[in-house]
Amino acid sequence: MAKANQFSCNACGASHQKWSGRCDACGEWNSIVEDVPLSTGPASKALGAARGRSIPLSDLATEEAPPPRTQSGMAELDRVLGGGLVPASAILVGGDPGIGKSTLLLQAAASFARVGLKSVYISGEEASAQVRMRAQRLGLTDAPVKLGTETNLRDILTTLENEKPDIAIIDSIQTMWADNVGSSPGSVSQVRAAAHELTSFAKRKGLAVVLVGHVTKDGQIAGPRVIEHMVDTVLYFEGERGHQFRILRAVKNRFGPADEIGVFEMTGAGLREVTNPSALFLSERDKPAPGSVVFAGIEGTRPVLCELQALVAPSPHSQPRRTVVGWDSGRLAMILAVLEARCGIPFAGLDVYLNVAGGMKITEPAADLAVAAALLSAREDAALPSDTVVFGEISLSGALRPVGQTENRLKEAKKLGFTGAIAPARSKTGTQSGFKVQKMSDLTAFVGDIFGA
Ligand code: TYD
Ligand code: MG
Repeated sequence: MAKANQFSCNACGASHQKWSGRCDACGEWNSIVEDVPLSTGPASKALGAARGRSIPLSDLATEEAPPPRTQSGMAELDRVLGGGLVPASAILVGGDPGIGKSTLLLQAAASFARVGLKSVYISGEEASAQVRMRAQRLGLTDAPVKLGTETNLRDILTTLENEKPDIAIIDSIQTMWADNVGSSPGSVSQVRAAAHELTSFAKRKGLAVVLVGHVTKDGQIAGPRVIEHMVDTVLYFEGERGHQFRILRAVKNRFGPADEIGVFEMTGAGLREVTNPSALFLSERDKPAPGSVVFAGIEGTRPVLCELQALVAPSPHSQPRRTVVGWDSGRLAMILAVLEARCGIPFAGLDVYLNVAGGMKITEPAADLAVAAALLSAREDAALPSDTVVFGEISLSGALRPVGQTENRLKEAKKLGFTGAIAPARSKTGTQSGFKVQKMSDLTAFVGDIFGA
């Protein structure tokens, strides 16, 4: 019996039984397309070299030693990869167009080549002359990287077969097309087929493939999310257009901690690593100002201090504005509600703006107390001491909950010249000489102690 056709969403990758104008899963319009079956055509024949074979788990240790990792020498990149590049792995690097993915990966290819890996960079978007120009600008013309400009998957696999590289960068997966799949490049079927062929090739031949994927908002081409589940590691390269800082974030990693970040700065000669992000995110801070609070956060395994800025002003609108950059707006609404219900501090009739400085995005609930502090400080027009960091989670009852890695947060604050912290009671702070930790059990106590309200 013929299998009924499947449909999937170009934006989020959700599967559907029938076509419709709008995807139920992500709400995107006009993004659902028919899947074309991948099972036909000769390219998939080579799969399954060890078909029908299984080995006991206990034998694995003797059969295969843990893969040796290769470090590129770009410490920020190596950390996000979980300590270096793992052979026979597939890595997806997603990000908005123009954010710097090609720049990052050309630099990575050169770094890996310089430490002795055979690197191949395949561009489906730029001509070799353009890639060479970029390499010139980055000062990488002498790096032993092989360049290819191809989009046909079969040609690419042939190139990789001949070159036998240790690392292959495919820029971008959305320009690649498999000639046994009938739809146009960039469609869900093509992106899936190309990613599938490349990842299984990587596993079979023991090389690492890096797939570059553009994040798309219009659903014209499939976003990188449709292949996230196929790869071992998913990294997103993010940043604000107006800022020179770029953050490489691991959102999935089979070989290391997720949520790890690497920080880069886009300069005229490519991406420069930022080894001390806290200093960078705080560098633009001047005198103590109402509404400005330093949050001691943790990104992955590393403490990162950053500045939260709030502005609270009487609203001319019947529905006051709530604008957030770099944090979750739902979480902001919750904190405003807790401040109002538990501490009797209303924000009705006031516009509220919250901004994380430097283009940083915070996802930790540990930032709750710092957000509340910034909001109160802006509302009361009273600056917090500029040498104090704040962290802690706020529960709906107004109680403050301790958060993970307290000591690391305090150590980083101390290292950067801060002399005190405000933290939840019951936090395991240890002893830090010359550093004062004020512990608060709930938000009401915090408001009373810090703002005298
Ligand atoms: P690119 O790597 O092409 O982005 P993506 O591959 O994610 O689409 O980077 C594009 C931007 O980076 C472009 O606006 C110019 C800027 N850029 C620099 O500022 N300095 C540089 O050295 C390079 C190569 C690019
Ligand atoms: Mg590019």
